[in-house]
Amino acid sequence: MIKGGAPVGVFDSGIGGLTVAHAIENRLPAERIHYFGDTAHMPYGERSPALVCRYATRIARHLVDSGCKALVIACNTASANALDAVRAEVGPDIPVIDVVAPVVAQVVKSRLSSIGVIGTRATVASGLYGRLLRAGGTAEVHEFATPLLAPLIEEGWHHSESNIIEPIIRGYLDRAAFGNLDGLVLGCTHYPLASAGFASVLGAGVKIFDAPAAVADSLAEALETAGLLADAGLAGGVVNRPAHRFEVSDLTPSFSASARVFFGANLSLEACDLWTD
Ligand code: DGL
Repeated sequence: MIKGGAPVGVFDSGIGGLTVAHAIENRLPAERIHYFGDTAHMPYGERSPALVCRYATRIARHLVDSGCKALVIACNTASANALDAVRAEVGPDIPVIDVVAPVVAQVVKSRLSSIGVIGTRATVASGLYGRLLRAGGTAEVHEFATPLLAPLIEEGWHHSESNIIEPIIRGYLDRAAFGNLDGLVLGCTHYPLASAGFASVLGAGVKIFDAPAAVADSLAEALETAGLLADAGLAGGVVNRPAHRFEVSDLTPSFSASARVFFGANLSLEACDLWTD
């Protein structure tokens, strides 16, 4: 029987999913996170749907075999191309949360009528955001692939003093020629790391939608429904913060740096190659 004290598995191709993991830690401080960053295969956005499915199902199997009670696919590319495959792999007892549905629900609730969506090539090619938003009543949806952004962010360029990310964001939005947008969906979990750049390019008139907080809320709801919430262990009102586990398929300096920014200098990072026999 799966117990509430088991960890929540969270995965992405690299550091993007850390934005989601961090929001989960804030929203559900008693939950233990087992994170997998598939840095060896990043960027997922340039892979075929079949390959993304292969990577995502392998990681899902690993996380569940390691004892995870629920999974968060903290990657739009894998959510858009491999959600059904991951659910089929892990079976009905493991709640699987993706990053697309919670953001779509937020946009639909906002009732804004002209929405832009940017993401990786594989996310935009799936057309999933467009289909779900139109079905939810959003009048106009414009999707555009921005493939340079995730690798730049993975390399830490959103921190660069020369602020190189802003002209690239501006260049993509010019090319996309979205017209007058009411809102923009950051359809890649790497993009919130460059949220200051997006806010400055878009200005106050365009609402930015992204995954982290919405996904953490969906996870909380799913764990509660399944009776799988961790015991907060409140001692004197203070939550007992559990130790998280971080694995990557290739140990990269950018992953170590970002993981430490979000989760502190003492985190332990393990290399884990799931693909060699
Ligand atoms: N963070 C990922 C996403 O949300 C993927 C970036 C990539 O590996 O291309 O799509």
